[in-house]
Amino acid sequence: MFDFLTRPHRHDSVHLVSERLTLRPLALDDAEDMLLFARDPEVTRYLPWSPNADLSTVRTFLRDQVNRRRRNESLGLAVVLRATNAVIGSTDLMELKRIPGEAELGYILARPYWGQGMMTESARLTLAYGFSEMALSSIHAWADEENFASRKVLQKIGMAFVTTEQRVVKGDQRTYVRYQTSAPHPLI
Ligand SMILES: CC(C)(COP(=O)(O)OP(=O)(O)OC[C@H]1O[C@@H](n2cnc3c(N)ncnc32)[C@H](O)[C@@H]1OP(=O)(O)O)[C@@H](O)C(=O)NCCC(=O)NCCS
Repeated sequence: MFDFLTRPHRHDSVHLVSERLTLRPLALDDAEDMLLFARDPEVTRYLPWSPNADLSTVRTFLRDQVNRRRRNESLGLAVVLRATNAVIGSTDLMELKRIPGEAELGYILARPYWGQGMMTESARLTLAYGFSEMALSSIHAWADEENFASRKVLQKIGMAFVTTEQRVVKGDQRTYVRYQTSAPHPLI
């Protein structure tokens, strides 16, 4: 079967930089760093992922992620701590083909780095890239109603509450909250 991994894509060269962080495309070599937080039950608590990840699960996830980028379905960025060069999380703009011009933001961060503004910084960079380089007109995100840190991040990056919906996640009935923001209007 044809393997998309052999074909380069224009988002393969994304390189977004802030004072503490670099965001660049997730790669297969990130598996070991990602496993450190992918198997943390606190990190996966509000995610559909099981905390029972092993190296082969994470490698499969990363291979799918690279393929999705090359099929223009999602972006998939690693959040790299500049001080150590370790991958400490990821952000994504997903569902790019569902409604043209729209995307869903998702993210995850290793627990030792919570509460230091790292995801607000990463999500802002990702949003700016989506609007300026991917020409998106609208970006939304869903957070579990009780995932207060994530809801706060979404508010801090300028997203507004839209609606709620009921979902079954890992066998539990959960309320999910939708936030959304539109591309900034260019100054006339
Ligand atoms: C959600 C997550 C990305 C937040 O990352 P982070 O880098 O800690 O977020 P930030 O530090 O940028 O901002 C978090 C904000 O939430 C606030 N917060 C944290 N826990 C909170 C709580 N229980 N109640 C209310 N606010 C809370 C923080 O005080 C901070 O706000 P402030 O800057 O005004 O003080 C991180 O906890 C994570 O990866 N969780 C697991 C995966 C996940 O849930 N992903 C999102 C799925 S929608």
